[in-house]
Amino acid sequence: MRKKIVAGNWKMNMTRETGLSLVDEIYQALGNNADSGVKVILAPPFPFLFEVRDWVHQENSIFISAQNCHHEANGAFTGEVSAECLASYDCNYCIVGHSERRLYFHEDDELINLKIQRLLHNNISPIFCCGESLDERENESHFEVVGAQIQSGLKGLKKNQLLKVVVAYEPVWAIGTGKTATPEQAQEMHAFIREKLAEVLGNEASQVSILYGGSVKPDNAKELFSQADIDGGLIGGASLDSSDFLAIIHSF
Ligand code: PGA
Repeated sequence: MRKKIVAGNWKMNMTRETGLSLVDEIYQALGNNADSGVKVILAPPFPFLFEVRDWVHQENSIFISAQNCHHEANGAFTGEVSAECLASYDCNYCIVGHSERRLYFHEDDELINLKIQRLLHNNISPIFCCGESLDERENESHFEVVGAQIQSGLKGLKKNQLLKVVVAYEPVWAIGTGKTATPEQAQEMHAFIREKLAEVLGNEASQVSILYGGSVKPDNAKELFSQADIDGGLIGGASLDSSDFLAIIHSF
């Protein structure tokens, strides 16, 4: 059975004080809840990662994710962090291909593919984001766009590598806008993504967790998560408030 996952993407938010008190609130609430069946992942900015890791014991089902990494193993790339470095700190996951990185940092499918390969080489699971823009949705090219992102982003991966990837479908028009894809729109795309994965994985595509992201809130999470191919969420804004984030985790 594939895992149910709720991942909090803090983006470039929080200071040490506010961030650690948020983690404390989540940890206090979930600490003894390791059997809930939902894997909780926190993706804070780099400086937090290892303090958070030491705090939230993994047996309690809270895992850490980076928000980015470089595609090379090491070298003169001032300001960057390698997957090798993340692995040496036992980082479990790393977000890759987020639309904000595609848009503001000009990351393309080819680069995203290199990062994914680098992460897998280091036994870190990529949380691979894909999703169409508003224009692409309106001109009905969304399946084509997401299909191409999947095709290029995951190019060359072997079956056993593909099974370590978590996919996050995040329609760009729904991120941080308060507009959510309807459960039907999201389910339709998730089923399509699973079909694409099945081209390589066959039946084993049913083992890959596909998360929905884009304005997930406590009041819409339950309906989204009840869809057959939606295995959880990648949560931005609502992950910065412990009661909202916990309510989303408890929406399964
Ligand atoms: P949002 O962000 O929940 O604030 O829309 C989701 C994301 O960017 O991962």
